[in-house]
Amino acid sequence: MKNITAVLDYHDRTKHRPYRYAASLGYMDWSTQPNPFRRYLNAPLVPLTFTDITVPYHLLFQDPPLPVAPLCLESLSQLLRYSLGLAAIKSHGGSQWALRCNASSGNLHPTECYLIAPPIEGISDSATLSHYAPKEHALEILQSYDEPLEQGTFYIALSSVLWREAWKYGERCWRYCQLDAGHAYEAIRVSAAVLGWGCELLPIDTAAIATLCGLNQYDRFDPHEHESPDMLIRLIPSSSRSTLPSPPKITFAANRLSPSHHEWPILEVIDTAVQGIYPPSSELLSPRTPPSPSKSAGEIILKRRSAQMMDGSSVTYVQFRQLLDASLFCSDTPDVTFILFVHKVEGLEKGLYAYIRNHGELQSLQKAMDSAFEWEDLNDGLYLLHAGDYRGAAQMISCNQEIAKEGAFSFGMLCNFSKSLETHGCIGYKTLYHHCGRIGQILYLEATSLGLSATGIGCFLDDEFHALLGLKDQRYQSLYHFTIGRAIVDTRISTLPPYRE
Ligand SMILES: Cc1cc2nc3c(=O)[nH]c(=O)nc-3n(C[C@H](O)[C@H](O)[C@H](O)COP(=O)(O)O)c2cc1C
Repeated sequence: MKNITAVLDYHDRTKHRPYRYAASLGYMDWSTQPNPFRRYLNAPLVPLTFTDITVPYHLLFQDPPLPVAPLCLESLSQLLRYSLGLAAIKSHGGSQWALRCNASSGNLHPTECYLIAPPIEGISDSATLSHYAPKEHALEILQSYDEPLEQGTFYIALSSVLWREAWKYGERCWRYCQLDAGHAYEAIRVSAAVLGWGCELLPIDTAAIATLCGLNQYDRFDPHEHESPDMLIRLIPSSSRSTLPSPPKITFAANRLSPSHHEWPILEVIDTAVQGIYPPSSELLSPRTPPSPSKSAGEIILKRRSAQMMDGSSVTYVQFRQLLDASLFCSDTPDVTFILFVHKVEGLEKGLYAYIRNHGELQSLQKAMDSAFEWEDLNDGLYLLHAGDYRGAAQMISCNQEIAKEGAFSFGMLCNFSKSLETHGCIGYKTLYHHCGRIGQILYLEATSLGLSATGIGCFLDDEFHALLGLKDQRYQSLYHFTIGRAIVDTRISTLPPYRE
């Protein structure tokens, strides 16, 4: 009960309201800007390899899956490069910054990645725990295990350095860290699919994940920069199963990310409240048509970018439907419905729409939302709620960001908040964000594959959106917003290759 109260309090106090945004510093304290790259001092570094040839993107979504690649240095390197690796270096006005395959709020990249892998030629003769260093595209070996780990299967653990996002976003940052973790997971799932590998989220206690990766050896970290465990993924290159190794004794200290820090005590409260066993999904959605023929998966993954400006032009109805349907490839995310502001989709009236991804939500949403909505059935989950020009509303709700108005459409991911909390307890709050982030990553990729652009929108006025829908209680809450359209590219910013291979 205490934890549920902590979740509800956190959610409420971190809502952005028109005249009061969630608490943050309110300015950028450049003197404490966190290093986006975690390193372990003196840990042996094993360089990974580069491959440029990948299958066409659309083949990832076909059944049966692609042939299974063996687990080796090259396949592991490819998995990491096309999921959490650098995608490009951007340069402007004397400064440079790295972009990665996985999107992250403010490009702050709180998500860290650890691997538990069997012996792999070129990496180690024994089973290892390692940390992925994306800037170097290398593995830092943190521990060699005495015990053997079965060949074939291996594990990836994701964790978040909350401080990286707190630095800019203050109290609301915990939400962004969870969305980012969802993006990272989906980036791994897509990259694994290129290799014919499946991903499975293990129903394991987050405390056990911390133990497994030594995240609870707090003396390794600056006290403000420790990592919170998010999820443990079993990668399944073969059907063999292996048991998890015993806790490591890591002797390498983590690098310090900032010289000093600002305190946000509520982050510890919410993060503690939501620890627990990662819940399996109760229902599965059925994917629809596979995406149409596309470029290579690697090209699309590396080209994915957030649009910073949209040009206000239209997308076709086929593109629109394909984008909505692509979200169903995250089939274990049944509690997320899209409420769309359609501005310029050819053949579709401007207006407010619902895309019901899980038919089981329809009646409950109809009851909860404004009784004046029309719910005109446009097939396959799409309903017109109310025709009209919602561009102004979309911009206002997205913290006045023009991208929400100038995209061909933008939308909120409205989640069955109370159902997730009732079914899974407090960790249901955290996993809902993971689900929204996962959907976001797949939509970014699908948009890129269609020659369009997208941007995740973490900054939105929560209750203004709920009020527009006529929602009167907390049962449904929007946790992530998104816009898709055609980007205006800022030609002043130049792009450099991410690695000197
Ligand atoms: C959870 C999340 C929230 C975001 N919120 C916003 C936002 O409100 N406004 C915006 O312009 N971009 C937003 N972005 C886009 C990020 O700023 C962008 O991903 C980051 O700068 C990295 O650029 P890239 O996506 O091109 O790699 C968000 C991204 C994520 C993943």
